[in-house]
Amino acid sequence: LWQSYLYEVNKVSNLTELQTVKVKFLGKKGEVTLALKSLKDLPPDIRPEVGQKINAVKKLIEEDLEKKEQELAQKALAKKLEQEAIDVTLPGFPLPLGKLHPLTVVQHRVVEIFTSMGFAVATGPEIEKDYYNFEALNLPKEHPARDMQDSFYITEEVLLRTHTSPVQVRVMEKFAPKLPIRIISPGKVYRRDDDATHSPMFAQCEGLAVDRNIRFSDLKGVLLTFIKELFGPKTKMRLRPSYFPFTEPSAEVDISCVMCGGVGCKVCKGSGWLEILGSGMVHPRVLEMAGYDSSQVTGFAFGMGLERIAMLLYGIDDLRLFYDNDLRFLQLF
Ligand code: PHE
Repeated sequence: LWQSYLYEVNKVSNLTELQTVKVKFLGKKGEVTLALKSLKDLPPDIRPEVGQKINAVKKLIEEDLEKKEQELAQKALAKKLEQEAIDVTLPGFPLPLGKLHPLTVVQHRVVEIFTSMGFAVATGPEIEKDYYNFEALNLPKEHPARDMQDSFYITEEVLLRTHTSPVQVRVMEKFAPKLPIRIISPGKVYRRDDDATHSPMFAQCEGLAVDRNIRFSDLKGVLLTFIKELFGPKTKMRLRPSYFPFTEPSAEVDISCVMCGGVGCKVCKGSGWLEILGSGMVHPRVLEMAGYDSSQVTGFAFGMGLERIAMLLYGIDDLRLFYDNDLRFLQLF
């Protein structure tokens, strides 16, 4: 009996199987039970001895089953714990992190360079009065140069600003006749353009300095410093005579074609020069309208499109990419 029990119990690997063995030996029709029942068929003189032996085996089996049961229960528990264990030292799943938009990066950089030269950041409304966007900038109603900036009008007197120059007018108007003014005005502007290099909404950063004795050479020095900071110290600058109604004289600013910034150095094709901003000495009439005495005070101003700068720095050829919100593009930066 004990041998056959051992044979059976050694095959057991879980609690259910153990239960089967238990029934097989100790159950109502189990082998031990049957053996005890069959005692009555034995000759009376050996019954006590055989009975004692069977009971001893029964006890052994009971004890052994109990021990095995405990062991198996413990094993099962250990296995369960192991399966459910959480390794808190494992690295977590990476969370997708947001990034700054390339235009924001460029704007921050431009702002950083000018603030390091003492300029403060000024902002103003994107829905602007005709007066601030044009009139106060020496662009009266019928001025042909208004065509340079195809505008989105909301009413006859209100429009989406076509440049951030109105911010400069607002600052001067508020500040005059106090001196000095040194501000830059980064922000969104709107024009009725839409192609690979023009978008109906784009970003500008303009600058203004007003004080006694501000000269064209001050403008040149500030812009050259800016350009070398942004595109690399070897970059050269070229000024070309130009026209803006709000500056006199006016100059278009070009940079030489080797640029080191953004993603490494690039050499551009063509004439060897790239136009990047407009500038000039603030027109006396603009100073007067804002409340300054133009016989005592002068100023310079400049303005640039940030998309254009970002396109040069990163080698991007279609400006609309900045506004498509395609993650494959945005993740490159
Ligand atoms: N406001 C001009 C534009 O948007 C840029 C500019 C600013 C030019 C200041 C000269 C001086 O095109």
